[in-house]
Amino acid sequence: MRRSLIDTVDLTVEELDKMIATACDIADHPDKYAHACDGKILATLFFEPSTRTRLSFEAAMLSLGGNVISVSSAGASSAAKGESVADTAKTVSCYADIIAMRHPLEGAALVAAQAASIPVINAGDGGHCHPTQTLADLYTIYREKGRLNDLTVGFCGDLKYGRTVHSLINALSRYTGIKVVLISPEELRLPEYMFAEVLDKKGMSYRETTDLVAAMPELDILYMTRVQRERFADQEQYQRLKDSYILTPDKLETAKADLAILHPLPRVNEISVAIDDDPRACYFKQVLGGKLMRMALILKLLDDAKNNVPATFGMGVPTPGKTCRNGRCICQVEQELPQLFVQTDAENDVWRCYWCETQAE
Ligand code: NCD
Repeated sequence: MRRSLIDTVDLTVEELDKMIATACDIADHPDKYAHACDGKILATLFFEPSTRTRLSFEAAMLSLGGNVISVSSAGASSAAKGESVADTAKTVSCYADIIAMRHPLEGAALVAAQAASIPVINAGDGGHCHPTQTLADLYTIYREKGRLNDLTVGFCGDLKYGRTVHSLINALSRYTGIKVVLISPEELRLPEYMFAEVLDKKGMSYRETTDLVAAMPELDILYMTRVQRERFADQEQYQRLKDSYILTPDKLETAKADLAILHPLPRVNEISVAIDDDPRACYFKQVLGGKLMRMALILKLLDDAKNNVPATFGMGVPTPGKTCRNGRCICQVEQELPQLFVQTDAENDVWRCYWCETQAE
């Protein structure tokens, strides 16, 4: 098992700082890196739709002088024949030096990382995590604010299914002086495990509200998100909630002059195009940051593989009497995958699924 990236917290804060510095250097001196990955192959395995993430991984590898092989839909791969994620990962390890994988099932990237003999990068596993978007987000915040500490960050929209929100809050929990304002309709609140495992556990300062306009004056960063239609079991509920928040110029009247507006994209309707020319709109700069940080990440993981740096993820254990009931978890779909658990709170005897982190029942 190689050092992989399943969630942002797999990287230490020092490693993240170094990667941000590398990304800044790549932005300033791209030629220095143009042959850094000569002869290396990245496999992008995308079993769920994507424009930015897949293309930015591929552009990142090509800009490093490497090559790319690619599966761009579940239907076009052996997954359609029922191949397990582990078998796919073992197979691709024979062809490539590093894998970037997106999958609709939560925990899929961790399964792949355990089976592969090359580094695996999680490019999104269901509603669970999306660490490389977080790398883009951290880079953008750093470039705009010059720091990752002492910031009030508003997250607005679909905080329940928005995996980029989960990964970014997790990442920010390691910096000091972060205040989080969670702005969402009641039905799209942040999942319970994020409160238990991150906000409360790490003692982060946060509050919840449904009112974007009232929250605006205090924000340094506004992270807008799309309501994630594909993750709703009830499409009527999606229709009711999809336009909960639409950022229009009038709503920015009370915003700070140096607010930074981020959005992982794609935008559907939640930021009016009238805002695109506002100097506070940073979402297209964020896209470029995503490519630069993916370049820094590929360099780091290939270097760690060369130096035999071991994987950082822990192991789960079979736990009699505990079950994962998350229908979107890979352990519900791949019958041969064992149900494994991790005790995250000994005092209250809380166990979580090792793969998807949902609380076990
Ligand atoms: C996000 C994702 O895939 O979760 N997009 C991205 O990575 N740029 C956000 C989204 O799809 O809404």
